[in-house]
Amino acid sequence: MLFTLCKIEDVPADEPLRVELSDGHVVAVYHWEGAFYCTDDLCSHGEASLADGYVEDGAVVCPYHMGSFCIRSGEPRAAPCSEPIAAYAVTIANGELRIERRADHD
Ligand code: FES
Repeated sequence: MLFTLCKIEDVPADEPLRVELSDGHVVAVYHWEGAFYCTDDLCSHGEASLADGYVEDGAVVCPYHMGSFCIRSGEPRAAPCSEPIAAYAVTIANGELRIERRADHD
């Protein structure tokens, strides 16, 4: 299913944006080095919103225990994170960012 995230200008550079999809799933959107990325917002280590963290060297740093994930692949980059999170390819159409994702209620 195709989900619209937000407008391009809604995502500040180097600062994650929390976006709730139309099916209620929550993702974090990143604008880093001129490109856009998207991962699940929930850290795989605990109940932290990654959108409350920050991006450093292509990874989002969790605000709780400072573990991190690659924003391209969702793979863990730093402990204590060991389980990957979902990452989504972002496409741009009509000034909006979109991702393809299976809906939670499918
Ligand atoms: S909750 Fe994210 S690193 Fe612990």
